[in-house]
Amino acid sequence: MNRLAQWLFDKPRATQGDVFAALDIGTSKVACFIAHLDEMGQPHVIGIGHQLSEGVRAGLVADMDAVRRAVSAAVATAEQMAGENIERVIVNVAAPQLLSQTVGVALPLNGREITLSDMDRLIAQAQTMAAEDSSGNAMDLLHTLPVHYTLDGQRGIREPLGMIGNTLQADYHLVSAAFGPVRTLETAIARCHLEVERLVAAPMASGLSCLVEDEMDLGCTVIDIGAGTTSIGIYFDGHMIFSDGLPIGGIHISNDIARGLTTTFAHAERMKTLYGNAALSPADERDIIDVPQVGEEAPEYANHLPKSHLIQIIQPRLEEIFEMIRARLAKSGMSEMAGRRVVLTGGTSQLPGIRDMASRILDKQVRLGRPLRIARPYQGQRSTSPTLTGLAEATSGPAFATTAGLLVAALQPDSLDPRSGFDFSGGNGFMTRFSQWMKQGL
Ligand SMILES: Nc1ncnc2c1ncn2[C@@H]1O[C@H](COP(=O)(O)OP(=O)(O)OP(=O)(O)O)[C@@H](O)[C@H]1O
Ligand SMILES: [Mg+2]
Repeated sequence: MNRLAQWLFDKPRATQGDVFAALDIGTSKVACFIAHLDEMGQPHVIGIGHQLSEGVRAGLVADMDAVRRAVSAAVATAEQMAGENIERVIVNVAAPQLLSQTVGVALPLNGREITLSDMDRLIAQAQTMAAEDSSGNAMDLLHTLPVHYTLDGQRGIREPLGMIGNTLQADYHLVSAAFGPVRTLETAIARCHLEVERLVAAPMASGLSCLVEDEMDLGCTVIDIGAGTTSIGIYFDGHMIFSDGLPIGGIHISNDIARGLTTTFAHAERMKTLYGNAALSPADERDIIDVPQVGEEAPEYANHLPKSHLIQIIQPRLEEIFEMIRARLAKSGMSEMAGRRVVLTGGTSQLPGIRDMASRILDKQVRLGRPLRIARPYQGQRSTSPTLTGLAEATSGPAFATTAGLLVAALQPDSLDPRSGFDFSGGNGFMTRFSQWMKQGL
């Protein structure tokens, strides 16, 4: 079994029982998937619910009550379909609220074998270096992910456990989230009588569902362009080694269309999904589309414009988004490890022509991604890769990459995730310590 599969599946979260649920709170939709582990240890989706999102701006809760209503409705639909009541959910944290840092730590060994407790000590040492936000406030540490191990100068070590040497050095990728927005998110979810079992960074969830193992190992960037956010995750050697996010997405394109063509946001969204394209073609000058005017619902008052007008609005905004992504990637300092491969996902990735534009601006090889680990049907034999079955076609598209990834994240061991386990007190409370003690004792 390769390392990624081990990381994901060797130690499933057995303590959570059979049934587990993912809650994706997005800017345009709230989605809930409920899954259970079948007798072969494979997750099977048994409940699906999604609802138009209200009260979320750029991935941030902006109206608690509206979010509560949307979450309650999505969860109730999924519960009804599953015939199960859920109490805990695995939730995404939007990329613009995340802080990604790489920290280096070292442990003297004096020529002895590296043990599990050495690894724990190394991780604990790295976690003490988690950053504060720009105003000096503490952040919530979500993930501690290994980037590199070096033993006595020997680089490229994948699994140091059991090796012998004098000094073990490690770089870890710490992903932290802004304290206030995370607490607000938890409170909104608590008002739906649900507990947050685990918080997962959105780029991590998108990567877990869309990337194949080779991509994760050899170096790849996953870019999820949603409605109000764009998530960026760089993967190398089986782990996410960098994450970033922008508070920009498909809504900004629709807003530009609404303003540029003096139509409503709803009509702009519809035109974008029906006729939108990232590239202009000669036929677009001849194709005429109806553009209903704001306040004039009757069709006879609609404007008749060439499709090229629409595309000339979409194109520059999308170019701007990719230029911003390119700048963030350049700033990451990870371009060598990220390699040349990009997987584009999220609802906005469905815009025709987006792949070529991304490829041109980012100067990378781009493929479109959808939740791979969901789409593949279960073949009746134990696979080393996670295979989530049970999703309908409509909910296995790129807009559900994060939702599906949350289910995959639910199955990974939580030793590198200090916030896993239910604890509203902030990470070091009694429940966390008690559950860690229980886990150690088992
Ligand atoms: N066929 C399509 N062409 C272009 N854009 C589309 C298409 N289908 C959906 N979209 C856009 O995708 C966006 C929704 O994507 P997604 O569901 O990934 O966002 P979200 O998860 O709700 O938001 P976020 O992750 O940004 O908080 C909307 O802006 C929508 O207009
Ligand atoms: Mg999303």
